[in-house]
Amino acid sequence: MAFQAPKGVSEYVPPRSALFEEAREAFATSARRACYGAVETAVFEDTALFVRGVGESSDVVSKEMYSFADRGGREITLRPEFTAGVLRSLLEHNLHKGALPVKVWTSGPAFRYERPQAGRYRQFYQFDLEAIGTEDPAVDAETIAVAWDAYQSLGLRQYTLLLNSLGDKTCRPVYREALQKFLRALDLDEETRQRIEINPLRVLDDKRPDVRAQLANAPVMTDYLCAECKAHYDTVRALLDDLGIPFTDAPRLVRGLDYYTRTTYEFDHALLGAQSGIGGGGRYDGLSEDIGGPPLPGIGFAVGLDRIVLAMEAERAAAGTETTPVACQVFGVPLGAEAHADVLTLMTNLRRAGVNADMAFGARGLKGALRAADRSGAAFAVLIGAEERRAGTVSIKDLKTGDQQDVAAAQATDWLIERLGTQ
Ligand code: HAM
Repeated sequence: MAFQAPKGVSEYVPPRSALFEEAREAFATSARRACYGAVETAVFEDTALFVRGVGESSDVVSKEMYSFADRGGREITLRPEFTAGVLRSLLEHNLHKGALPVKVWTSGPAFRYERPQAGRYRQFYQFDLEAIGTEDPAVDAETIAVAWDAYQSLGLRQYTLLLNSLGDKTCRPVYREALQKFLRALDLDEETRQRIEINPLRVLDDKRPDVRAQLANAPVMTDYLCAECKAHYDTVRALLDDLGIPFTDAPRLVRGLDYYTRTTYEFDHALLGAQSGIGGGGRYDGLSEDIGGPPLPGIGFAVGLDRIVLAMEAERAAAGTETTPVACQVFGVPLGAEAHADVLTLMTNLRRAGVNADMAFGARGLKGALRAADRSGAAFAVLIGAEERRAGTVSIKDLKTGDQQDVAAAQATDWLIERLGTQ
């Protein structure tokens, strides 16, 4: 049998890949508008970076990493997320010694050994954005607004923003202890009891109904915030109000990675079932020091492009507005082998002038070539045969109306550009 991709790998081919591009581009456009610069960073890193950065007690590090020794015996891990690697890169390139904050975005595959299901993959794609070097709550709100506007520009509406604060190194330990005290008194299995000691906040995330019922009165971080963290959180909330971005306070929102401090958030989509998280992020004011850098606050988010594609499909299907992406504007049809050169030249000239143009390849009959033209979504087909070549013309067919007319070959590019511009 022919090879198949390894289990859990998410892939995109046309036509669906157009949705993927659209999603990534929407986030890149939103990030560029807020003056975030692009970075490309390592897909694999020293395993220790993630152990120290993301945290040993997180599921991601303890159960889900693709780790191996390379041929030189180095301990390597395929990135399960971008933040630790992006920060490592910015420190390595000394960007933190220049003007702050450093604002960057990137996108690409990430890898987690999870149980694959709809919306959850082992190779998946994130768009990631980070702002490093300021504690200003305005940048917290800015990152949220960049994500919010990107979702909006994709036409997504059925999602909510969940917001929480996880406090800092002053107030979190006090809360942690209060939570542990509460949790130790509950009727829980051995594994969960161990989690209380290692990472009690994760217990709040337990999905089992019997555990959830017992957690109803658990203390929440927002009741334990120190004055600075509370002021920071209140400012972020007020800024979101100013920006017209609705949010839900989610005092039990805990994120799956250990580096978070203060502001944390998640975007949840209503039509995606179990894997409803279409993005999430927050502050990581201690991460730089955790990975051996100087004290340097930071905040950012990542969105799952795979889940955004699913959300786009779900919302567009519900609204009956599925659109076939129009990749092609003009489609060239050579009638006879001699016309191929003329058609390819005309298509190339159109492309150089910024028009998306394709043509029929191989020895196709007129009918087959026109079918291909229709399928391409182009507005116009340009037919060139022996007669046109003799007369120095091309025959242009409007594929919507069916009207056909001859145009001088030398004028064809300008003629098409003008008509496309006024469509
Ligand atoms: P995360 O919540 O682990 O955060 O992942 C962000 C998003 O990636 C999720 O909301 C989800 O859409 C998507 N995602 C995660 N795992 C999978 C998977 N197995 N299959 C498909 N999609 C997935 C982070 O990764 C942080 N680094 C975000 C961040 C940036 N925090 C600060 N800066």
